[in-house]
Amino acid sequence: MPAPLPVAVLVSGTGTNLQALLDTVHGRDAEIVAVASNRAEAPALARASDRDVPTAVFARDAYEDRAARDRAMAAWLGEHGARLVVLAGYMALLGEEFLAAFPGAVINVHPSLLPAFPGAHAIEDALAYGVKVFGVTVHFVDAGVDTGPVILQRSVELPDAGSAEDVLAALRPLEHEMLPRAVSLFAAGALRADPANPRRTVIAAAVGGAG
Ligand code: GAR
Repeated sequence: MPAPLPVAVLVSGTGTNLQALLDTVHGRDAEIVAVASNRAEAPALARASDRDVPTAVFARDAYEDRAARDRAMAAWLGEHGARLVVLAGYMALLGEEFLAAFPGAVINVHPSLLPAFPGAHAIEDALAYGVKVFGVTVHFVDAGVDTGPVILQRSVELPDAGSAEDVLAALRPLEHEMLPRAVSLFAAGALRADPANPRRTVIAAAVGGAG
């Protein structure tokens, strides 16, 4: 068995996706070596501490600008040996410099079927549009807003969706399966860009399957 992949997780909020990672891949395919947040009050931080994972807060107003914050955060994650950075409800943009520190190794979970409804209010935007199919995308992160190559995508039909809370409740179980699966696939070296279309992520057959 190969050594677990050292993974850092960035969070801003509740941390249910972090919890899913801690409960599934942590200590198996991956070792979560660091959890960083832009918000000191993020409940996700306690989930990491409960499992003895080092945490740190990189608040925007503690630094001269966003680039300085990102530099400090990238350095801290690097010191902890991270080789993959997972955005699990991290609600701030990352600059090119941060992405260059982890080339091809930053992934995000987003609560819509991208490219529909990028940004911080995906579920509310989808509800306002009146869609009947919702979904979750796990994708590589590039310098755009939720624009990087798709890794996994799943949909759920909710023709009578009422509130954002209802939609989130339907999407959560998908997120909690898909994000750990994407981490395992990355750790296994199973994710490749299709040479014919680098925007397309190909999953190696041996570890492939639905998704
Ligand atoms: C998740 O639903 C995730 O898809 C979303 O934030 C939530 C975090 O929940 N991310 C985005 O909207 C990113 N644009 P969690 O803190 O319980 O994991």
